[in-house]
Amino acid sequence: MKTDSWILKGMICYSKTKDELAVLENGYLICCQGILQGVYPVIPEEFRTLPLTDYGDALIFPGMADLHLHAPQYPFCGLGMDLELLEWLETHTFPEESRYQSLDYAEQAYTIFTEDLACSPTTRAVIFGTIHTPATKLLMDKLDATNLKTYVGKVNMDQNCPDCLRESDAVSALEDTKNWLLDTMDAYKNTKPILTPRFVPTCSTDLMEGLGALQKQYRLPVQSHLSENPSEVDWVRQLHPWSSCYGDVYDHFGLFGAKSGTNCPAIMAHCVYSSKEEIQRLKQNSVYIAHCPQSNTNLSSGIAPIRRYLEQGLLVGLGTDLAGGANLSMFRCITDAVAVSKLYWRLVDSSAKPLTMEEGFYLATIGGGSFFGKIGSFEKGYEADVLIADDSMIPRSSSWGIRERLTRFLYLSGEKGKLIGKYVAGVKIF
Ligand code: GUN
Ligand code: FE
Repeated sequence: MKTDSWILKGMICYSKTKDELAVLENGYLICCQGILQGVYPVIPEEFRTLPLTDYGDALIFPGMADLHLHAPQYPFCGLGMDLELLEWLETHTFPEESRYQSLDYAEQAYTIFTEDLACSPTTRAVIFGTIHTPATKLLMDKLDATNLKTYVGKVNMDQNCPDCLRESDAVSALEDTKNWLLDTMDAYKNTKPILTPRFVPTCSTDLMEGLGALQKQYRLPVQSHLSENPSEVDWVRQLHPWSSCYGDVYDHFGLFGAKSGTNCPAIMAHCVYSSKEEIQRLKQNSVYIAHCPQSNTNLSSGIAPIRRYLEQGLLVGLGTDLAGGANLSMFRCITDAVAVSKLYWRLVDSSAKPLTMEEGFYLATIGGGSFFGKIGSFEKGYEADVLIADDSMIPRSSSWGIRERLTRFLYLSGEKGKLIGKYVAGVKIF
């Protein structure tokens, strides 16, 4: 019997659409070779021989996709949360990231990061490394071994950053990046490289041009930051006065999603200050927005208008943006997304309805999961990314159903709930 073919029994819930949560008490979730066959009240005859694990009264729901986080920032999460973005980068982030020049340091820090990510609600993640190729390869080795599915970027930055964390020039940066790509593109089962210009201010035009050429040559996905903070947006306008918006700079160099027939899946983190033109371009190019509500709060960045993005049919997922966000919990990310949407509605635009719990859950599962393929639902044909949650220590009314239990778990798991199982593409992690 294959280990990625099985049946799980328990209190099942998943998003059917962004407005509808499907629930089934004492249901059976069936997986054949990593692919879900659906949810059933009774096991169909054809699946009777599969091994069954009965999780009793535990909640069973889809795994979470973290579309944006920085692995090297894990050691200082929680520090500098009283600073704004550009100050925080100079004071904490750049000095810490420069330490990954040492493979010994990277070994220690990335061991802790990958162990903690493996235990977290995240089943899929899109991750920034640092500019250092050996440390980034080490991170990829470690992530691959967790069996989580990840994209990892060796960061590119060759200007407007301290000497200790700067690629010396565009030519050598591009050569390093190409060698890293060739070494890692087909080296792993679970981990893939993603092009990672840090953000426009730290990348010279020669570097951006070269990254655009690499994208074209190898058809790579791209991740970066976009319109996060007002000073950053002004800075980009000064650096590239010809551009019609911040996103136009990435687009100009072929690093901004689908454009004139090229296939370039792209994730842009934040989009708090995207102009009308930028929003249009995000939509046209099918760029994913990684909404990072905790980071946007901690770094006083602002509130992204996610309701508007959903109304306009943009692709949106959630990100912890560790260490702008101070922890790895995608449960916390969902509840923060709902919370900041209420502040946006109350303080900024009373016609932008707050996100519902269903919408927050959808964004963390299917919303971000779709960047990886058919991920984040329990419908037939989806890859089997599954979490099992014990909420027995969270006090409960007998009149509550699975929806209420799930909501309480998302808010209270840090104190009293416990993840007791996790599967990625059918493979049991714990
Ligand atoms: N913009 C450029 N670099 C970073 C980073 O490390 N974190 C966040 N939140 N924004 C950035
Ligand atoms: Fe970030």
